[in-house]
Amino acid sequence: MQTFGFITHALDMNDVVRYEPRAAGKRIELVSKILEWMPAYKQSYITGIRSQTGEEIEGYFLACPFLPHQFTELPREQVYKKIIDAGKLAESFGAKIVGLGGFTSVVGDAGETIAENLNIAVTSGNSYTIATALEGAIEAAQAMGIVPEESSAAVIGATGSIGRVCAQILSQKVASLTITARSLSRLKNVAEMIFQFSGKRPKVTTDLHAALQNADIVISASSAGRGIIQPHFLKPGCVVCDVALPHDCSREIAEIRQDVLVIEGGLVEVPGNVNFRTNFGYPQGIALACMAETMILTLEKRFEHYSLGRRIEPEKVIEIQSLAQKHGFKLAGFRSFNSQVTKEDIQRIKENARISKQEQKISIGL
Ligand SMILES: NC(=O)c1ccc[n+]([C@@H]2O[C@H](COP(=O)([O-])OP(=O)(O)OC[C@H]3O[C@@H](n4cnc5c(N)ncnc54)[C@H](OP(=O)(O)O)[C@@H]3O)[C@@H](O)[C@H]2O)c1
Repeated sequence: MQTFGFITHALDMNDVVRYEPRAAGKRIELVSKILEWMPAYKQSYITGIRSQTGEEIEGYFLACPFLPHQFTELPREQVYKKIIDAGKLAESFGAKIVGLGGFTSVVGDAGETIAENLNIAVTSGNSYTIATALEGAIEAAQAMGIVPEESSAAVIGATGSIGRVCAQILSQKVASLTITARSLSRLKNVAEMIFQFSGKRPKVTTDLHAALQNADIVISASSAGRGIIQPHFLKPGCVVCDVALPHDCSREIAEIRQDVLVIEGGLVEVPGNVNFRTNFGYPQGIALACMAETMILTLEKRFEHYSLGRRIEPEKVIEIQSLAQKHGFKLAGFRSFNSQVTKEDIQRIKENARISKQEQKISIGL
């Protein structure tokens, strides 16, 4: 049976406590220090992934014990070393490919140095993450009664590995697009790439509020590591597909904005009867798209560096989506702030959005 590895890390203190209940109530500074000293280790053995073609594979989660802020703040060499050690563990368990979860693919050159230091294939899983983010955003928009071709969209983190390709492909599907991140010069370069790709020139801004205030569809893929989208930034009735981990949407949005639909991007149903033997916070049978990409490549025996670096090609997004279909991977239903979104929830959000829009018209005297 073919074997894959996938490198994980805790996203926040809740995650740390889920894996190690004795961390409950401890200060984040102390926990971070302990994580810094911990070596990479085998987190779990995964069985039961069975393609609809009949092929079955197995895999391992390898933990790289850091919190998101440590990936960006600690010396690069120290961070790379622990990710490479996790990759070497995957090698020792017979994996022929290893996927880079969360910030293990965000740090530095997006996996290229890690790949150079391992003897097996490496993927960030970003191609399938992009495919599922786009699919989820468009499906959610349609469920909310938004017509994509007539809508305004925004992509946050649009100069990044995931955001750039999301913006390129989305530009073909919507009436107007705004792209945002912190570096204006990089945004201008990406705007030019989008123009070359689709013939449509997006607006660029580093002002997140300005980018979002008129957007009907938002794909959010920043590496900010915290809730940068504030409740008042969002247009009533809009859809936000939040791909970022940790999420870009602040928790307050769930409490204050009952008139917008926020969905978690990149969640996928795995074919077969998968047993992850660990709880990473999703219902049984659900994986992140980056994990799913590693599984799909293993089923295909495509042991090659697939999504690596910050230049992912749209063709790869199309290819991995069709391979996902071949093996029976599909978008999990919408989830928002850790709960399933029902048809009734969507009806309620639509009704709330209608009322909010009416109130806005009254307040500006229309
Ligand atoms: N759901 C999944 O399955 C899945 C899979 C893989 C990755 N992810 C997540 O997706 C996100 C993006 O990953 P990536 O590989 O595309 O990262 P990346 O290549 O490093 O890109 C990050 C983007 O975010 C922007 N950014 C960073 N901090 C920001 C801030 N404070 N405000 C606004 N923009 C900011 C960056 O541009 P500037 O530096 O110019 O601001 C860049 O455009 C990460 O959170 C990652 O963990 C999710």
